[in-house]
Amino acid sequence: MTSRRSKDGDIEAGRGPRLDGYLSRAGLASRKQARALIRQGRVSVDGKVCRDASRRIEDEIVALDEALVDSPVERADYLMHKPVGVACSHDEREAPLVFDLLDDTFRHRKLKIAGRLDRETSGLLVLTTDGDFIHRMTHPTRKVAKRYRVTYRGTLPEDAAQRCREGMLLTGDETPTRPAELSVEGAGRATLVLREGRTHQVRRMFRAMGAIVTALHRDRVASLELPADLDPGDLRPLEPEERALLLRDSSL
Ligand code: URA
Repeated sequence: MTSRRSKDGDIEAGRGPRLDGYLSRAGLASRKQARALIRQGRVSVDGKVCRDASRRIEDEIVALDEALVDSPVERADYLMHKPVGVACSHDEREAPLVFDLLDDTFRHRKLKIAGRLDRETSGLLVLTTDGDFIHRMTHPTRKVAKRYRVTYRGTLPEDAAQRCREGMLLTGDETPTRPAELSVEGAGRATLVLREGRTHQVRRMFRAMGAIVTALHRDRVASLELPADLDPGDLRPLEPEERALLLRDSSL
């Protein structure tokens, strides 16, 4: 399995973050706004105005409008396009793992997955060092919406959408599923939006309705869509605006 770097090369082995990334991680601005501040000459590095957003920062002193910018906290959030065939696990016995797709720069961080996908499911995956973020994204009381594109074999019953809306008791579960939105798009294709995350939930719901899921892809979590330019297997740091989109719709 090849190891990947973030697309914009934000962090590279042995090098600090870019100046625009440094400012955005410090919570001062989005990456785009940071570039504008840098262009306007409002940012200095070791006392000199720096107009180069790609300048790497190791332990230099960064200031915005002459106010010192604290070094960004060691929180790290990444967005991955999970490919089919890798497990969302730290257990080497389940290899290949999504963590095998990270290069050493990312791997040393204590990254955890905010909302796992099955080995055979592809799509939007968030990796983070922030336990509170994981809780906010995954706790059932938050009801964060996850949209799945489903390809299936077999025929769904006419009342499939109603059954998903009303909830169904799946084998081995003690409570019915929470209301979910099913749209059947014809020719074995459907979209299902869940607001909880039970093990193999989409596959089990389809099986309970008499169909077999043959391909599953998560293309949206809360208000964040999987970026079209993120290829399967790639990951990059999550932008502050994307983090906000992920948390915007949580119900607490
Ligand atoms: N439901 C599933 O069945 N699998 C996933 O990976 C996610 C939701």
